[in-house]
Amino acid sequence: MLTVRELNVKGQRVIVRVDFNVPLKGGEIRDDNRIVAALPTIKELLAKGARVILMSHLGKVKHKEAPEVVEEQKKKNNMAPVAKRLGELLGQEVIFVPVTRGEELEKAAASLKDGQVLLMQNTRYEKGEEKNDPELAAIWAKLGDAFVMDAFGSAHRAHASTYGIPELLKKEGKPVAVGYLVEKEVANLTRCVDVKKCDRPYVAILGGLKVSDKIKVIESLLAKCDKILIGGAMAFTFSKALGHPTGTSPVEDDQLDYARGCLEKAQGRIVLPIDTVVGDAFDPEQRTTIQVLDSVDVPDGFQGLDIGPKTRELFAKEISKAKMLFWNGPMGVFEQEEFQKGTLAICEAVAKLEGSFTVCGGGDSAAAIKQFGYAKKFSHVSTGGGASLEMIENDGHLPGIDVLK
Ligand code: 3PG
Repeated sequence: MLTVRELNVKGQRVIVRVDFNVPLKGGEIRDDNRIVAALPTIKELLAKGARVILMSHLGKVKHKEAPEVVEEQKKKNNMAPVAKRLGELLGQEVIFVPVTRGEELEKAAASLKDGQVLLMQNTRYEKGEEKNDPELAAIWAKLGDAFVMDAFGSAHRAHASTYGIPELLKKEGKPVAVGYLVEKEVANLTRCVDVKKCDRPYVAILGGLKVSDKIKVIESLLAKCDKILIGGAMAFTFSKALGHPTGTSPVEDDQLDYARGCLEKAQGRIVLPIDTVVGDAFDPEQRTTIQVLDSVDVPDGFQGLDIGPKTRELFAKEISKAKMLFWNGPMGVFEQEEFQKGTLAICEAVAKLEGSFTVCGGGDSAAAIKQFGYAKKFSHVSTGGGASLEMIENDGHLPGIDVLK
């Protein structure tokens, strides 16, 4: 695969698909990590004298909703604040084009000078983006002489901007390449897929809410890992499958058989919580009681909100043996101080490892690591939650990267 390093693009218009899907609140960027992560590729292209055309999605725009709802979603997910922040980080002007097609965009792209950069409006303003509409891909592909994929967080999506454009440009014999971020992500995550002897014991930690979201990844990890530690809300589906009462904890009843099947297949390699911290409500305003239970039997009217102290110790012991570790999903409701201890214990246990290869697969666990100040203690913290899980599920393949090969 060609990388941005090898591209000779002086005076060329290069379309760069980045993942600037950053959390926004009231038009303010709450975490610019994904913008920062794309800088090496953008800077390299600008230094080479390329004319850079950046494209990204931001949030969700549900085109099936009523027109006024769609307009509201577009307003909420306007890319303008991202252009401003990118300009500050690059220390140069970023030309923001507030539309996704038409004369204004074509003129802006055509009049770019060497070393200049523009950012197009949110790709999801277009109905055809998520459907990989060939007409839309052709409109966008016409803007560039080359394509660079640096949106690792979106590489599991075969959309017009991630798949349609490179497919077309490749057919036209134009260069398509990966950027530095994608190169780094693929190298680190491939190590978690093609497991070498020296990387064993390989321990995976899964958390978060839904078992159904992680079905394929559990099966895939079972084939690769020596141990899988399961915490977070998804543990309660396994707990119920084993006959434990789960109170009002979120349980996916249609996944109970699957959970039983996994446990059978795992033959002791899946490690589940042995105690739990419960509350009588999720919402702190409505909560009156928090209890640390000595088991995972959650009484009526309570729900599990974090793993308990014995589980923290058990998980830390398993982590201490790991030569390689992959973690996706928090152990509890870490956004609330009372339920941070489980997720924090994972961070602390990983920080104690010496010489092991440790990867956090993005999403909420990456946010937790950052919040607790442990990002530097991991070998790699991915910028893509869904993408890193799918990469493991699909044995190292993602459509947005395979299309470049
Ligand atoms: C993410 O935040 O996981 C990526 O940007 C992909 O976003 P999506 O799930 O809305 O496609």
